[in-house]
Amino acid sequence: MDLVERLGLERPVVQAGMGGGLATAELAAAVSSAGGLGTVGLMPPRLLQAELRAASSRVAPRPVAANLIVPFMRSGHVEAIIGGGAKLAVLSFGFRPAAVAALRHAGVVVLHQVGTVTEARRALGDGADGLIAQGMQAGGHLVGVEPTLDFLPRALEAAGGRPVLAAGGIHDRTTAAAAMSAGAAAVVGGTRFLLTDECHAHLRYKQRVCGASRTIVTTLFGLGWPLRHRVVPNAATERWLRSGREPAWMRYVCSASGVLGRLVPMDAVSSLAATRVPWMPPSAAPVLAGQPEGAVDLGPLYAGECARHIDAVVPAGVAVAALDPG
Ligand SMILES: Cc1cc2nc3c(=O)[nH]c(=O)nc-3n(C[C@H](O)[C@H](O)[C@H](O)COP(=O)(O)O)c2cc1C
Repeated sequence: MDLVERLGLERPVVQAGMGGGLATAELAAAVSSAGGLGTVGLMPPRLLQAELRAASSRVAPRPVAANLIVPFMRSGHVEAIIGGGAKLAVLSFGFRPAAVAALRHAGVVVLHQVGTVTEARRALGDGADGLIAQGMQAGGHLVGVEPTLDFLPRALEAAGGRPVLAAGGIHDRTTAAAAMSAGAAAVVGGTRFLLTDECHAHLRYKQRVCGASRTIVTTLFGLGWPLRHRVVPNAATERWLRSGREPAWMRYVCSASGVLGRLVPMDAVSSLAATRVPWMPPSAAPVLAGQPEGAVDLGPLYAGECARHIDAVVPAGVAVAALDPG
């Protein structure tokens, strides 16, 4: 399957779904309008459907995609994607074969974001139409364990002809062209699209990420979701990671809280997660526009290694053009 052709994309550029309110209809529509594929990030089902509808109605007949973070999937998410008119869905950070089957049955193309060959085989066994190969330099939560261009050929081999997109470290035409010449069907940008006007991140968060000299991988912001993630350091990482790792009691609370994250209703997860108290283990909720400025030093500043090469917040359409390998 030629994914770009099937979706009618003008450019082989996909904006990563960034959940918790970062990537809403505004960003997805701006990316799809510019000829790429915009993605609405995970949010409660009713809201997801409304955002997908809003984005689709702005860009139709161009497509819009949805992202699902599997540990936070609830009943209603699959229906929201179908009802919202998404043409593609990306499942990340887990597996849910029944959802893959239901989405494909409704004509939605399903990709799985994976970081190892074992995960790639499992995703394809579940019926995914293709893969997103995430490299370890990616921003946000990580399944990637090796550099993108090292993993990509092995993901392609496992995919046996199904399309594989590359994610991790792709921030300009050169990095996009390298991934495409290595066989990627399209490129996926997260950090590049975080740093756009239409992304709903707090402006101070974007400013901290722009040109940040380094990122770190941690499990610190793991309350409700204890998976490794890449962030730009801030006061919270300095406070809690002084000895190199977060205290043992915090790791214990975070791993126990993974169960809660899966069980409690999505609206409750969102509002609990946005409660930031300096003495509590920090939650996974991103720092959004409209939140108090102090949240930038309490919450996670998710970003990829390529942050150091990006020095400006730009309109999403400019970012799409910058990632087009041409
Ligand atoms: C701010 C931010 C939030 C992210 N949120 C999600 C998410 O909700 N779901 C998901 O599947 N991936 C998420 N990711 C990871 C992306 O899907 C992708 O793997 C990564 O951004 C690619 O690397 P890059 O940041 O170097 O472009 C996020 C990445 C960033 C930077």
